[in-house]
Amino acid sequence: MQAVGFHEHGPIENYELLRVDRPTAGPEEVLIDVKASALNYMDLFAVRELDHYVPGYPFWTGGDVAGTVADAGESVTAWEEGDRVLVNPYLSCRSCPACERGEHLSCPDFEMLGEMRRGGHAEFVAVPAHALIPVPDDVSLETACAVPTAGGTAWRALATRGDLRPTEEALIVGATGGVGTFAVQIADAVFNVDTLYATTSTEAKAEFLRDLGVDHVINYVEESFSKRIWELTGETGVDAVYNCVGGPTWTDSMRSLRDGGRLITSGATAGPNPETELRLLFIRQLDLVGSSGALPHELEELCGYVWDGTIEPVIQETYPLSEYDTAFRKMDDRELYGKVLFVQD
Ligand SMILES: NC(=O)c1ccc[n+]([C@@H]2O[C@H](COP(=O)([O-])OP(=O)(O)OC[C@H]3O[C@@H](n4cnc5c(N)ncnc54)[C@H](OP(=O)(O)O)[C@@H]3O)[C@@H](O)[C@H]2O)c1
Ligand SMILES: [Zn+2]
Repeated sequence: MQAVGFHEHGPIENYELLRVDRPTAGPEEVLIDVKASALNYMDLFAVRELDHYVPGYPFWTGGDVAGTVADAGESVTAWEEGDRVLVNPYLSCRSCPACERGEHLSCPDFEMLGEMRRGGHAEFVAVPAHALIPVPDDVSLETACAVPTAGGTAWRALATRGDLRPTEEALIVGATGGVGTFAVQIADAVFNVDTLYATTSTEAKAEFLRDLGVDHVINYVEESFSKRIWELTGETGVDAVYNCVGGPTWTDSMRSLRDGGRLITSGATAGPNPETELRLLFIRQLDLVGSSGALPHELEELCGYVWDGTIEPVIQETYPLSEYDTAFRKMDDRELYGKVLFVQD
């Protein structure tokens, strides 16, 4: 089968269209005929620096996968050929003490599909049967595959770890990415926050964010976003900032918070070791909240909002596997907003 992956770590040019053996389903696994898989910034990190995770070469990425069941292992009774399914890429064993306490992300056997285990930017992928989520007939597999990594991360960060509330004012930094666009919709359409602010880097992206439901968009290339937030909030600051960018946006995010506000992070696209300002942290008595991935019930909760149309994943472009080069380059050049997918017949 075809798969988009690499033979060694390095620049994104190392990605190639591989010819590899089709995987087979183990006794408790299901083989998925992949119809759509979503790109994530993780695909770029995976080839550049995540060599410690990769089990061997060639390796192919792709955590977010939707398709139909092609085959099921001998112990699998819940799924049959042709079922339309989405894969939860946060693979945990579901039976160890950590999983039984509901701490699936701390499972000793935890694997992120497409990062620690060969993924679904391929014609077929084999995954544990318990990782499947049924996709309703009226929801496209493209829409479904856009959800797990970006949406699940934003959901856990805002709903669970960040404890966002309707009376609050929130700021999403770098809001046009996959995580960012889900964060905007979660804050706006699910939590109905009082005022939603967002930063982005171009006027075209700003227009898109206004249409998506952001009340005030700030172009953080042209002006200091913390100064603008300060003006717009009457010099009080916002209750919560969600920042997956890191780098030069970190201290400005702290400056944008009210006393007692929360800075929530689950990513560091522009750098993991930003300058910080400890005086802001203690004088304003800020809370720093880390969040990663999503628990099974959190992803299912989010899927409910997607299936009923409350949240409509933003899918900007789709490509065949053979055009992986254009897709990854555009993502790296920050030309995109929302999600980009590989789609197969
Ligand atoms: N911990 C987890 O479980 C988890 C899960 C998913 C993602 N993440 C992390 O979250 C971050 C966002 O992921 P994503 O898939 O949403 O990425 P994405 O779709 O590529 O979006 C990244 C966005 O960040 C903004 N940005 C700001 N500075 C940037 C820079 N120097 N280079 C590139 N983009 C920059 C851009 O938006 P503007 O032009 O609007 O600024 C861009 O659209 C990544 O760091 C990813 O690794 C973590
Ligand atoms: Zn476990």
